[in-house]
Amino acid sequence: MLNIALPKGRLGEHVYRMLKQAGYPCPALEQPDRRLIFENTEAGVRYFWVKPHDVTIYVERGAADLGIAGKDIILEYSPELYELLDLKTGICRMCVAGPSDFRDDRRTVLRVATKFPRIAGEFYAGKSRDVELIKLNGSIELAPILGLSDVIVDIVETGRTLAENGLSVLEEVCPISARLVANPAAYRFQRDEIEALTRKLGKEVNVQTARGGRI
Ligand code: PRP
Repeated sequence: MLNIALPKGRLGEHVYRMLKQAGYPCPALEQPDRRLIFENTEAGVRYFWVKPHDVTIYVERGAADLGIAGKDIILEYSPELYELLDLKTGICRMCVAGPSDFRDDRRTVLRVATKFPRIAGEFYAGKSRDVELIKLNGSIELAPILGLSDVIVDIVETGRTLAENGLSVLEEVCPISARLVANPAAYRFQRDEIEALTRKLGKEVNVQTARGGRI
């Protein structure tokens, strides 16, 4: 049995449909109830819904053998796990954003608000730019509007949140997409099952990509 942590929400539901197409269905999961754990012994899978930010914790600690995690979470927390497959879905960009007329004055320390202090810190360290990182937990776009920060480093998907708050992308930090990740010990002990799932899911990724399928 493979234990698979799915991120609760639209991305997780989309990836579950891909897994189902790949031969790992779980009819119980499709019922409209509030259970969090579902299994299909015939297909050899047990799925559970977890908060997207927590997927790598379950996988790193071996509570899940496999999981679906955004590259943003993987980069931010650097968990000890194997990244097996780019699912080419959940596609977005990590960006620096701020007022469109923002000009960086390198004589001052740049104040950066973000949910991703490690990604932001490494990005600016790579540019030898002194920054003060301000860790927030959401609604990051408010920070430059209220003068809490000069810019933000955050995820941009459609760009709508930025536009509707009068902000623009100033620089791209890195592209983001969902990844299939594995616990290293589970990979060692259940290698055949995990490689089979990775291969079948990889084929499904190609089918979706050929269709131009995004979520
Ligand atoms: C994320 C991100 C942006 C928004 C970007 O926030 O932090 O605010 O989505 O999406 P868009 O480009 O399609 O508008 P999330 O929805 O996770 O909420 P949060 O503010 O609570 O972090």
